[in-house]
Amino acid sequence: MDEDRVQQINNIKLGKGSTINKTLQSSSKSGNPKEEPHAPSNQLKSGLLGWYAVCSIKELEEDKPYFFTMYNEPLMVYKDKDSTLRCIKDLCPHRGASFRGGEIKDGELVCPYHGARFSSTGKCTNLGRITCNHIVDNNYNNYAAKIHLHQYLCKEVGDYIFIHYTGSAKTNLENIEEIDNIETKSLDTYGFKTNEYAYEEVIVDFKCDWSRIIENHLDILHLFWVHGDTIPDTDVNRDVITSFNQEITRDNNQIESKYKHKDKDKSEFIRIKFLPPGRIIIYKGQPEESRYLQVLDHIPLERNQARVIVRHYRRFLKNKFLTDLILFKNLQHRIFYKVFAEDYLILRTQTFNEQMGYIEKDNVKLLGEDKMIQYYWDWFKNATNEDKPWQLHPRNEYTNTVHDELNMIYPPENDALAKKNIRSLIVKLALRVLVPIGVVIAIL
Ligand code: FES
Ligand SMILES: [Fe+2]
Repeated sequence: MDEDRVQQINNIKLGKGSTINKTLQSSSKSGNPKEEPHAPSNQLKSGLLGWYAVCSIKELEEDKPYFFTMYNEPLMVYKDKDSTLRCIKDLCPHRGASFRGGEIKDGELVCPYHGARFSSTGKCTNLGRITCNHIVDNNYNNYAAKIHLHQYLCKEVGDYIFIHYTGSAKTNLENIEEIDNIETKSLDTYGFKTNEYAYEEVIVDFKCDWSRIIENHLDILHLFWVHGDTIPDTDVNRDVITSFNQEITRDNNQIESKYKHKDKDKSEFIRIKFLPPGRIIIYKGQPEESRYLQVLDHIPLERNQARVIVRHYRRFLKNKFLTDLILFKNLQHRIFYKVFAEDYLILRTQTFNEQMGYIEKDNVKLLGEDKMIQYYWDWFKNATNEDKPWQLHPRNEYTNTVHDELNMIYPPENDALAKKNIRSLIVKLALRVLVPIGVVIAIL
């Protein structure tokens, strides 16, 4: 596709002069918008470092840190005493303890090992508590300067907590040059009126390669075969393997593919947008008019461990009570968990992972509708070679693997939540049936 055509598509999709269009032009890694005024926009600029949605704001309980890892690095997020979000390395700068088992007291983080407290800027506020004679009494000031939390930039956007992951946490967050622009991850930037939607979400943990899950979510063909019996759409089933016309575009910040029915009435089936490094948006029609929107955020916890936040947005009723009634969240959760369990069967046995190298041309055969997948692997290969994120916090056979287990807190690895949801679903279903029957009997 020639340069003018790509620019034309960008303008149509994003609206000439829109925020995102300006963002696209100014978000190159050089940070100098004048450098590439007419740069070919068919290549993604974003790599594997930058802004990631790491959890939903709902997961962050009052005075309770949320622990996770990114590319093997143990991290946590919490709210300080001003309710400002903080993302810190999960490592006490005194003697290297994890903050798991610690607490947030009066908005300050307290280490469970010797009780060091840290202010929101990351400074230790009770150094006297941990500087006993046996430590460094004669070098107090020097020591005090070193006791400092290491942090990443952290923001809340659209009920998500985003962190700016660079692989190198800093004691001072001022003057950090942002690798990419968080606006390019925002749903509103692309025209979705998020304030008009109600959403439901689940979070799932997988023992498999992060990049493979993204590939799965970009793959349209498996929907019919793997999820045909689960997705509540009569057009999506094993007997109806549809063929699509695909219109695929790439620019600096996204790959997008529109799928239209080839044989039917040429109507649109779905659009899939990939916003690197970890966000996928699935919807239908123009963003401003789309009544349904699925957002998937992928978090690379460790090698062969990944987390996905899945949100389904729906726009049909403003009344929250009625929306909840119609959406019947437990039933939605049940479907989400079932879909992921189906994917997991495939995902954990797929041979590719980060340690085993990229797919070579003679290993697999990408077919027509796999174009999006090919574009994705092209980006992934370049981005991995450039950023080498797995080399930032490398592991070897001596690495403490305790985080491997502690990370796995959501289904399908931890199926307690899924079972709890089923129990709750049964109870609520029974109530919905029994209460009206009871009322009718009482009237009679
Ligand atoms: S290791 Fe945290 S206070 Fe000592
Ligand atoms: Fe799937």
